[in-house]
Amino acid sequence: MKTQVGIVGGGPSGLLLSQLLHRRGIDSVVLEKHTRAHVLARIRAGVLEQGFADLLRLAGCGDRMDHQGEVHEGVNIAHGEDLHRVDLHGLTGGRTVMVYGQTELTRDLYEARDAMGGVVIHEAEDVQPHDLTSDTPYLTYRQGDEVRRVACDFVVGADGFHGVSRKSIPADVLTEYEKVYPFGWLGVLSRTEPVAPELIYARHQRGFALCSLRSRVLSRYYIQVPLTDRPGDWSDEAFWAELKRRLPGHVAARLQTGPSIEKSIAPLRSFVAEPMRYGRLFLAGDAAHIVPPTGAKGLNSAGSDIQYLYHALLDHYERGDDSGLYSYSQKALARIWKAQRFSWWMTSMLHVFPDSPAYDRRLQETELNYLFSSEAGLRSLAENYVGLPY
Ligand code: APR
Ligand code: PHB
Repeated sequence: MKTQVGIVGGGPSGLLLSQLLHRRGIDSVVLEKHTRAHVLARIRAGVLEQGFADLLRLAGCGDRMDHQGEVHEGVNIAHGEDLHRVDLHGLTGGRTVMVYGQTELTRDLYEARDAMGGVVIHEAEDVQPHDLTSDTPYLTYRQGDEVRRVACDFVVGADGFHGVSRKSIPADVLTEYEKVYPFGWLGVLSRTEPVAPELIYARHQRGFALCSLRSRVLSRYYIQVPLTDRPGDWSDEAFWAELKRRLPGHVAARLQTGPSIEKSIAPLRSFVAEPMRYGRLFLAGDAAHIVPPTGAKGLNSAGSDIQYLYHALLDHYERGDDSGLYSYSQKALARIWKAQRFSWWMTSMLHVFPDSPAYDRRLQETELNYLFSSEAGLRSLAENYVGLPY
């Protein structure tokens, strides 16, 4: 098989890039390790920056998001019994975020790929990039007993944190930066009315909690738990009781509880791999970087990579201009590190760190007290939350 852009990974990054390119007549093939059902079974975050939402519209995939997603003009931060609203809209000159689940968005991307006749090969096993530093790179993969080959101009590694693309960059070229947090998030999805119309991030001495939502009838809640906990350790009753303890009394009193539809624990980690380009291989999304979910920057960071890469590839194919391809890694990383900083800051401010000295805990409280006494502080939070410019 021959194509222009060979994309490894059929998650949101790979699908979005392939869809954007196809609309400009650039051909790609997506190789995805799992079945579509498996990819669509993952429950992930659901807050989109305005820039990301615009990119989806540009890809022709914004209709359902615009009908079913919710535009949010603010988020809340709870601290003990206090609840503060951050007026995102007012503090950023009218910018907002879109609440729309990643699972839905991925489904929309798959449907758009189908409608255009895009090539997405599922259950592609042993995907391997080759000859990345030559002008004729190619991918191989296995389906059953047959090994197939995709020749391409460029390879895009959009195969997530555990993918093969990053691993194909020689160790002496790649630098990896990592920070692992000593706790995880236990998440519950429930068919209940959200406790509040806007998200609530809560800092409590028992640990962090987050009230989020997917729709008017579907809620997503999280609590900070030790890394040693397993989802089976937490009955629904125990989860609701602990969540209530961490919310201000007047919020907890309104919480609607019900059976969990999904319950899982995710560890918190920050990770960046540099550079994001090696020869004709370009990394994008989770393949190159991950963040703890506290700032809702995972998918949005992937979105900024795709935006830069899309324009770089367009410039190459439409104008013979390779400057965007040369500067991709540097440009993408500059924004990625800012999202890393914001996610680390939100995580540090809002979680309880086991064994942290009393001095650090007082500083955390002071950080929140400062934030809610300073418009400059709030504006900084707001401009990062809605997304820095591309
Ligand atoms: N070969 C082919 N496909 C692979 C391989 C491989 N060796 N390894 C992983 N994949 C596939 C995975 O099955 C998955 O569908 O690559 C896809 C990567 O998707 P994601 O992990 O969702 O990563 P990405 O598309 O970059 O999405 C951005 O940011 O913080 C997150 O939650 C956010 O998942 C979102 C991500
Ligand atoms: C979610 O809805 O799953 C969600 C929202 C905001 C976050 C993290 C997760 O910061």
